[in-house]
Amino acid sequence: MAEVKAKYDDQAHAINARNVTFDFDSVPMHYIPGEPFATHIINVMHLVLPEGERAMADCLAEALPLIDDERLREEVAGFVGQEAMHASSHELARNHLEKLGLDVGPMVDAMAWLVDRILGDHGLSGRAKHEWLCERLALFAAMEHYTAVIGEWLLTQDQLEKKGMHPAMLDLIRWHGAEEVEHRSVVFDAYMHVDGSYARKARGALITSPALLALFIVSADYLFRKDPTAAKGRFWPWQFARATWQGTIPSFTTFFTEIPRYLRPGFHPSQLGPMDNAIRYLAQSPAARAGES
Ligand SMILES: [Fe+2]
Ligand SMILES: [Fe+2]
Repeated sequence: MAEVKAKYDDQAHAINARNVTFDFDSVPMHYIPGEPFATHIINVMHLVLPEGERAMADCLAEALPLIDDERLREEVAGFVGQEAMHASSHELARNHLEKLGLDVGPMVDAMAWLVDRILGDHGLSGRAKHEWLCERLALFAAMEHYTAVIGEWLLTQDQLEKKGMHPAMLDLIRWHGAEEVEHRSVVFDAYMHVDGSYARKARGALITSPALLALFIVSADYLFRKDPTAAKGRFWPWQFARATWQGTIPSFTTFFTEIPRYLRPGFHPSQLGPMDNAIRYLAQSPAARAGES
C-alpha cells in the first residue's frame, strides 16, 4: 500500500477537461480505407463508450463524498469532466455515421438499457449501497486499465496513419486515448481509497476482461451487418484476422495478457508506459487546439 501511495504522489498532476472541437463533415463510412471491419471496431467506441463513460462518471461522483484526500478529490472531479467530454465527442461521431446511413439507434438504446441495468445504482441504500459502489469502482478501475493500455497503443503506433485513416477520426481516438493515459490512475486510486480489497479488484478484472472483449466483437459484428455499403466484403473474421496481423487494431489477446500485470501485488497504473506521449499529443491535438481558440 505504501508503495502504491508513493507512486501516486510521484505522478499526481492536475486533471482537467479540455474543450475540443471536431469537424466530422468529410468523414466517409469507412474512414480506415479498405478496412470496413477495423472501422467498425473503432466505431464500437462511438456506440458503447458514451453510455459506459456516463455510468462511470456517475459512480465516481457518488464516491466523491467518501474521498477525504483533497488532491484525489480534485483528480476525480477532473476525471468526471473529461469522461463527459469523451462521451459527447463520440456522440457527435455517432450522429455523423447515422447521417451516412449506419442505423445504430436500436443498438444504442439497448446499450443504454444494459448499462443502466448492470452498472446503475439500483436504488440501494445503507450497507448494500456502499458494497455496490465498491464493486462498481473495482469494475471501472479494471476498465480504465484497458482504456489506458489501448490509449497508449493509439499514441505509439503509426499503422492507422499508414492506412490513411481520416484525420478527424484519428484525432478523436488519439485525443481520447491520451486523456485516458493522463487520468489512468484516478479510478484505481479512488477504488484503493474507498475500499482497496484485493479480492474485489481481482473479481473486477476477471469479469471485465472477457466482458469487454465480447462487447467489442458482438458490437462490431452488429455494425458490420448494419453497414449498408455493398463493397464491405462478406466475411468479417478474415478482415479481423488481417487487421490484427497488420496491427491496424490492438490484438484481442490484450484482454487476457493484461490480467496478470493488473493483478500483480503492488501494481499501480503509473507503472504503465511513460506519460510523456499523452501530454505531447494533447499539446498538439488539432481538436484540442481548435477548442482552445
Ligand atoms: Fe474516456
Ligand atoms: Fe477514462
